[in-house]
Amino acid sequence: VPKFSSSNKDEDDEVEVDSGKTKVSVFFGTQTGTAEGFAKDDYAADDDQYEEKLKKETLAFFMVATYGDGEPTDNAARFYKWFTEGNDRGAWLQQLRYGVFGLGNRQYEHFNKIGNVVDEQLSEQGAKRLIPVGLGDDDQCIEDDFSAWREQLWPELDQLLLDGDDANTVSTPYTAVIPEYRVVIHDPIVTSYEDNYSNMANGTASFDIQHPCRYETGDHVGVYAENCDETVEEAGKLLGQPLDLLFSIHTDNDDGTPLGSSLPPPFPGPCTLRAALARYADLLNPPRKAALIALAAHAVEPNEAERLKFLSSPQGKDDYSKWVVGSQRSLLEIMAEFPSAKPPLGVFFAAVAPRLPPRYYSISSSPRFAPNRIHVTCALVYGPTPTGRIHKGVCSTWMKNAVPLEKSRNCSWAPIFIRQSNFKLPADHSTPIIMVGPGTGFAPFRGFLQERMALKEEGVQLGPALLFFGCRNRRMDFIYEDELNNFVEQGVLSELIVAFSREGPQKEYVQHKMMDQAAHFWSLVSQGGYLYVCGDAKGMARDVHRTLHTIVQEQENVEPSKAEAIVKKLQMDGRYLRDVW
Ligand code: 2AM
Repeated sequence: VPKFSSSNKDEDDEVEVDSGKTKVSVFFGTQTGTAEGFAKDDYAADDDQYEEKLKKETLAFFMVATYGDGEPTDNAARFYKWFTEGNDRGAWLQQLRYGVFGLGNRQYEHFNKIGNVVDEQLSEQGAKRLIPVGLGDDDQCIEDDFSAWREQLWPELDQLLLDGDDANTVSTPYTAVIPEYRVVIHDPIVTSYEDNYSNMANGTASFDIQHPCRYETGDHVGVYAENCDETVEEAGKLLGQPLDLLFSIHTDNDDGTPLGSSLPPPFPGPCTLRAALARYADLLNPPRKAALIALAAHAVEPNEAERLKFLSSPQGKDDYSKWVVGSQRSLLEIMAEFPSAKPPLGVFFAAVAPRLPPRYYSISSSPRFAPNRIHVTCALVYGPTPTGRIHKGVCSTWMKNAVPLEKSRNCSWAPIFIRQSNFKLPADHSTPIIMVGPGTGFAPFRGFLQERMALKEEGVQLGPALLFFGCRNRRMDFIYEDELNNFVEQGVLSELIVAFSREGPQKEYVQHKMMDQAAHFWSLVSQGGYLYVCGDAKGMARDVHRTLHTIVQEQENVEPSKAEAIVKKLQMDGRYLRDVW
């Protein structure tokens, strides 16, 4: 069984392991898969293929993450839809034995919803559950959850092999393999080297005349930002390597045979270490335990190796959770504290630094208003961590420092791609809409309002539109104040309701304003109106959701269970949409 990897393994990439006679398939559903992965997602080709392929499986494991508003990852989405919607297939998976490990975060409302649903569905379709579904919680230590799940799995697998005709198979105990790329160092004088990042051979699809970057109001944009120079230079020092080193990484041996361990696809090369550290290495998150194990293996100082091993061991669980995660120690901070651990580049990029994932933003423009430009509304992530380090968010810092094309032909650029969403305006523009979006949660609504402005100019009759916006105070973060007032003046926005949380003696949030307007609010929804919520999932969206229940209960004068059913129905009908993170 291949080791679980939180790498860029794309969903539905089958990892088939030839373990003598028993074939095991592992299906990944990760969000950090590259766009190349989206494209080569062959398991998602068409529905017949899912069925054909699944029918052939006898032993399979599903690693599926839950995102946003209880959604599957992008590359698992089609499979999930197909798998969960056709309930009439009968027990067609009788020969399959399976295990599901879900990746989620308990802070969110729909904790591991996808893992649970896949697990239940597989069982309903006749498959035999080998072990109970694992519920990984990224709020704590998901690696520990996975280890615990895996420990439960071994005896079941042993049993399975002994029951079968592999009675003589002796199962080998699990040992962690530290994955490593083969590295080739190139001589810059000999190697003609062209920065091929813009082609993103490994990453994002590039846009050209056949593949223009089209977006719709309400979609998301994924941005591959770069680590800032300061971070990259520090990483180069810690690795003890010159930043102008030209190298490439490979997943095969010199003779073309594949390397044993399962590695994420290499990034395009040759490239300089500077470029590799800037574009591909996640350097500012706390390292996973697997990274500490890899660092320990390369620590020359025995004390450092011991401490790193301890931190990644079951006995060091509390230290790991306090000293590493709780104090938000970045990978670079940890490497600085263990200076004798200088892993070779092949290990560093395979096992120590995860691939820097793209950052997603809700697009805050409408193509009718900005056809050749995508706007995002982004809060700068900047502040001290418990160790006193100033944490600078990778993408927001990159955006802050970016040089626009208007200023220089040598402008900043980064690969981007569009992720479609179902956060869309009603097809009938006379339908009332209610938008709830404090802070940067306003982003998609700015696109909605631009769209309505364009529609209005075309003479389309618009239904009422309410916006509940929230910010701290008028002087500091009342973003887009002028634009909002203009939308109201133009009749594109019927009512602008702002909650200032830090102006008065008491905090006022959007949900308090919703309560103030409960009757009006509910009458618009009852008329067939659409309700949209965008922003922070853990706090705001959860509280707004509760407030919605209260409003329904009071306005409809019903029991909580009935109110819940009404809200569920709104969701099922696609009239209560959430874009939350
Ligand atoms: P605060 O920072 O004063 O607590 C945009 O971030 C606005 O959302 C801010 O005014 C912020 O207020 C507010 N906010 C914070 N937590 C919230 C919650 N749980 N529900 C609604 N708004 C919230």
